Amino acid sequence: MSRIYEALQKAESDRKAGLLDREPQAEDQPFSPSLETTPEYEVAPALPADAAIHSASPQPRRASRSESGSATPALSLNDVPRHVWTPTYSQLPALLERGPAVEQFRSLRSRIYELRDIKPLKSILISSGLPQEGKSFVATNLAISLARHKNSKVLLIDGDMRRYTLHQLLGCQPHPGLADYLSGKAEMVEVMQRAEEPRAADRVRSAILPNLTFIAGGNGGDKAADLSGNPRFGELIRAASPYFDWIIIDSSPVLPVSDAVNLARACDGVLLVARGGVTKFQVAQKAQIQLKASNILGFVLNAVETQPQVGTYYGYDADKE
Ligand SMILES: Nc1ncnc2c1ncn2[C@@H]1O[C@H](COP(=O)(O)OP(=O)(O)OP(=O)(O)O)[C@@H](O)[C@H]1O
Ligand SMILES: [Mg+2]
Repeated sequence: MSRIYEALQKAESDRKAGLLDREPQAEDQPFSPSLETTPEYEVAPALPADAAIHSASPQPRRASRSESGSATPALSLNDVPRHVWTPTYSQLPALLERGPAVEQFRSLRSRIYELRDIKPLKSILISSGLPQEGKSFVATNLAISLARHKNSKVLLIDGDMRRYTLHQLLGCQPHPGLADYLSGKAEMVEVMQRAEEPRAADRVRSAILPNLTFIAGGNGGDKAADLSGNPRFGELIRAASPYFDWIIIDSSPVLPVSDAVNLARACDGVLLVARGGVTKFQVAQKAQIQLKASNILGFVLNAVETQPQVGTYYGYDADKE
C-alpha cells in the first residue's frame, strides 16, 4: 500500500478515535515557513488508468485549425499583455529563494520529470475530491517550481471558473480569463498575461516570473459546467502546447461538480491532491474513480506536518536551479 493511502487511513482512524472530532478548516493550518508547519508533498503511484494519454509531441509553429474550422493564430509570447503582478509571498513559498517548501516542490517536480521520461507529459490538471484541499496552492507553487528549472516556459491556467483564486496568489487581474475564451468572447492571446519585468535586483523573481504565462479564471458563474465541456479548451491546450514546456491547470473539486472531469479529457495527466489530516480515504478513492477515464499520475499529499529530513533541506542553494 502506498504512503498516501497509509497516511489517509491513519487520519481516518484518528478521526474515528475522536482525535479529530470535526472537519478541520483551512485556517487550522496556515502556511508558515517554520519547521513545525512545513507542508510535505508526495506523489504516489496511482491505480492504472484506462485512457490513452493525449500526445504531447511537438507541433509545428503555424496556425492551427479548430474543430469549428476557424484558424487559431500562431502565438508570440511577446504579444501577450504584461501587467504588474504583486505575488502573495506567504502563499507562494516556491517563489522564495530557498527553504523547505522550495525543496518539497522541487522533489514533486523531479517526480513529474521522471513520469515524463516514461510517457509524453506536458499538460497536467490539478484536482481533488473536495474544496479546500490545496489544489490552487499546489498548482501555483508547482508551476513556479517548474518555471525556475532550466528556464522552462510554463503556462498556468485557472480552470476553476467558479471559485477562481490564482490571480489573488499572483496578485493580478482575474479578467479576461478562461471563461471569456471558452465562451468565444476573447482569443487565446487576449486572455493570457505575463508579469512586467521585475526589478533586476529582485534575483529570484527575475529568474522565474518571465517564464510564467497565466490565464486567469474569468467568471464562469453558473455556466462553468457547460464552458468546461466546450471543445475550445482542447483547442487552447493544443494551440498553446508548442510554446510551453509545461501547462498546469488548476480546477474545481471533482465530487461536487463535473468541470474538472471535463477539462481533464484534454490534458495529458491529472495530479490529485489530498490534504493530510483532512482528506478522508474514501474521498480520495472517489475522486480517483471520477477521473478514471484520465491518466492519473498520482496523489500529492499536501500540508503534512512532519519535520523535513535534514539532508534534503540544509545546503540547498537556489542558484543551482
Ligand atoms: N501546504 C499548505 N500549507 C499551508 N496552507 C495551505 C497549504 N495548502 C493549502 N493551504 C491553504 O489552505 C487554503 C485552501 O487552499 P486552496 O485554495 O489551495 O484549496 P483548493 O483545494 O484550491 O480550494 P477550492 O476547492 O475552494 O478551490 C488556502 O488558504 C491555502 O493557502
Ligand atoms: Mg482552488
